[in-house]
Amino acid sequence: MHLTKKAISERIKEIDVVIELLDARLPGSSANPMLAELTGAKPALKVLNKQDLADPARTAPWLAHYNSLPGTRAIGLDASMSTPAKALIEACHALAPSRGSMVKPMRVLICGIPNVGKSTLINTFTGKRATKTGDEAGITKLEQRIVLADGFYLWDTPGMLWPRIIVAKSGYNLAASGAIGRNAFEEEEVALELLDYLIPHYPEMLEARYKLKLAPGVTDEQLLEEIGRKRGAVLSKGRINLQKAAEIVIYEFRAATLGRITLETPEEFAQWLAAGQKIDAERQVKKDLIETNRLIKFKKIPRPAKPDEA
Ligand code: G4P
Repeated sequence: MHLTKKAISERIKEIDVVIELLDARLPGSSANPMLAELTGAKPALKVLNKQDLADPARTAPWLAHYNSLPGTRAIGLDASMSTPAKALIEACHALAPSRGSMVKPMRVLICGIPNVGKSTLINTFTGKRATKTGDEAGITKLEQRIVLADGFYLWDTPGMLWPRIIVAKSGYNLAASGAIGRNAFEEEEVALELLDYLIPHYPEMLEARYKLKLAPGVTDEQLLEEIGRKRGAVLSKGRINLQKAAEIVIYEFRAATLGRITLETPEEFAQWLAAGQKIDAERQVKKDLIETNRLIKFKKIPRPAKPDEA
């Protein structure tokens, strides 16, 4: 993480466009706010990857949202596209029209949180016109440079760039998507959060997949039980195996067997972020107060001099 940050901040000076790969099912949650701090005002290309799994009716407003930001463009991609390099090159040229010649090459940095599909995308380039190097001056072993076209260089900085998750919902969405290792979360909790979102937003998909009718006011817990029962995840004495039911729901969301789903809209994410930032700021005030009190408590108070020392 530290090395990745260091590599990005060293490389950024000579970069023309920063590509951030996002998961099209959770664009806001899969973004890394730290990247903006590291890359400053560099032109930014947001690539909504895995668009084949996302709800197209929601990918469009996300693209419009990013395209409305200054110095920013957005495109959708997925692993089935035969010429992803072409789409990337065109979008980068639109962001930095003066670059891309042999004299003034286009230098692009590509970043993304784990599991967003970066290796899969890069593998479609390598083997064609790619050069992988770690021996050139200024290229650390952490980086690889890929030649996408004449005068078009893509720098990949491997490693993790994890943000501090201040939006609780983002943590659940990242876990549901597969971006967080399975030992780091409770499947049942994540499945319940997922169902809580899907009940109002994608009820038809739930009804079709699990062959049930959602009763008005049905809760996520009731639905998880019903899914478990329908799928035969039953323990002794008819108890439902909620762990198994949760695994089924998460797996079927990830594989899009449930359907093409996007877990957040730009407006929803903006609300979650504002609420998360407020809580985070309050937490910081509390932490600062504790630290101030600690300093006062342990501050060395000068010992008054004894009369014979005076
Ligand atoms: P990373 O380098 O960013 O960590 O991600 P990576 O390319 O390893 O991709 C993570 C998973 O996402 C892989 O699945 C990969 O096949 C899948 N993936 C990548 N791009 C797309 C896409 O556009 N659409 C879909 N549907 N899936 C995509 P996996 O199950 O972890 O591995 P594997 O079974 O494919 O080997």
